[in-house]
Amino acid sequence: MRKQIAVLASGGGSNLQSIVQHLASLGTGSPADVVLVASDRPDAGALQRGRGHGMHVVAMDREQRTSGMLALLARHAVDLVVLAGYLRFVPVEVTRSYRGRLVNIHPALLPAFGGTGMYGHHVHEAVLARGARVSGATVHFVDEEYDHGPIIAQWPVPVFAHDTASTLAHRVLEVEHALYPRVIQQLAEGVISLGADGHVHGAPAHLAPSYFALRPDPGAAVEGIRAVLG
Ligand code: GRF
Repeated sequence: MRKQIAVLASGGGSNLQSIVQHLASLGTGSPADVVLVASDRPDAGALQRGRGHGMHVVAMDREQRTSGMLALLARHAVDLVVLAGYLRFVPVEVTRSYRGRLVNIHPALLPAFGGTGMYGHHVHEAVLARGARVSGATVHFVDEEYDHGPIIAQWPVPVFAHDTASTLAHRVLEVEHALYPRVIQQLAEGVISLGADGHVHGAPAHLAPSYFALRPDPGAAVEGIRAVLG
């Protein structure tokens, strides 16, 4: 039985796009379908993309993104909730009901550069201001705190002296697009799960050493992610 995914997004939805494309590339072997795209912003590009793919799209009002979110997800028989640039707090009843079935991607290596106020370009500006030499993408289970739940997968990218928030964001985003869909696939397949002990099981915990070298070309990172995650 294919799992039903809801993607929650506030922005352009490039991660949504990469997830949809990846699942489509698996054809009949895909373990999941995106059935619902929901946003707190009626003008979010993600909603446009969802519409383009013929999915149910919802521009959530205040009620739907707070006390009504669980009912909204239930109405669409959602098994897995994927945050892809969703900037609002997810209600606690949702994080509890979807424990182990609710994930987020963050454009830095958590637990650094995460938490309240750390979203979008703010993250990359903070990385540059701090002089970090390495950043990356983190996929994690969502709990009741921003950017806090158990980490499922990470991938590093180098930070260069000439970087701006925008060049760094671009480099990280390429990695996000390779990493997130594959993690979601493995979650839907049941390869990755969150144990009752709070530990992540079946995660691609370790990077293949040969790919760990921080090569500047994003192609190398994508190649590495494929080698580790399939
Ligand atoms: C990504 O960088 C993601 O890590 C962060 O928000 C951004 C969303 O980008 N949480 P997009 O809307 O998927 O293009």
